[in-house]
Amino acid sequence: MKTLGSYQFEQLEGRFHEAQMLSERAQMRLDGFPDLLKRHGYPSEGQVLEIGTAQGIRARIMAELYPNTQVTAIDRSPDLLNIASHRMNLNFKQADVYELPFPDNHFDFVYARLVFMHLHDPISALKNILRVLKPGGRLLIEDADRDCMFFEPAPASFKTFWTKVQDGQRKLGGDPNVGRKLTPYFKQLGFSQIQTEVQPIIGSGPDIEFLVKTLMPSLNIYLDPLDRPDGERAIDDLYNLSQLPEASFSHFWFVVSGEKQ
Ligand SMILES: C[S@@+](CC[C@H](N)C(=O)[O-])C[C@H]1O[C@@H](n2cnc3c(N)ncnc32)[C@H](O)[C@@H]1O
Repeated sequence: MKTLGSYQFEQLEGRFHEAQMLSERAQMRLDGFPDLLKRHGYPSEGQVLEIGTAQGIRARIMAELYPNTQVTAIDRSPDLLNIASHRMNLNFKQADVYELPFPDNHFDFVYARLVFMHLHDPISALKNILRVLKPGGRLLIEDADRDCMFFEPAPASFKTFWTKVQDGQRKLGGDPNVGRKLTPYFKQLGFSQIQTEVQPIIGSGPDIEFLVKTLMPSLNIYLDPLDRPDGERAIDDLYNLSQLPEASFSHFWFVVSGEKQ
């Protein structure tokens, strides 16, 4: 069934707040971003596309780090793109990954972060990306897998909340477990030179507090309205956990790139 997927900014309540939180999340672990681009073959010159750029935070960094690349950054949401700021070698365009308005064999590098988990048809999105990639060009995807997030000691309420968040996201057409599927998708579509990294994110109380502030409330909207008070209690329990000196958090994040043959 075709749906709009599980991230529809224009449909969210509290969009102004979500835009701020999305921007804070986009700036998480930025210090490793230049090395990550290098490891996965970001070109020193040529055409680059970012898909699902939101306010363009990472696209801007790519354009600043590599002034000889021309970066085009797209998002389906016009409201998010309105907040993005252009520069000489960076342009924004409203577009959908399923209907990319670019010629065949055009880009040297394509990047997407936290977009695939929201897509109802990742294979058709990948086919569209392959069409616009040049032979020899690379695609780099970073995405999460919600089953790979652990709190210690885990609040009992978290397990139920997390199961319901994932069920709700699936109902909207997203895939909360897309991280583990990326490498098989790349193989299925014939990418070569596939590189897969599973990055551990290990944190303590302040990192849990950051998640409670910037991420968890926006996931509560995946819950049935009747379950949302329980969701809020689970988020409160995570906040209480974040204040304990022994609190710890681990999350495993998938980073996959591959070359078009
Ligand atoms: C969770 S946000 C991630 C934003 C940004 N990449 C980051 O890492 O912070 C997902 C983004 O993908 C965009 N998006 C979702 N479905 C899309 C589609 N079919 N085509 C283009 N963009 C899409 C959303 O509008 C949103 O900006």
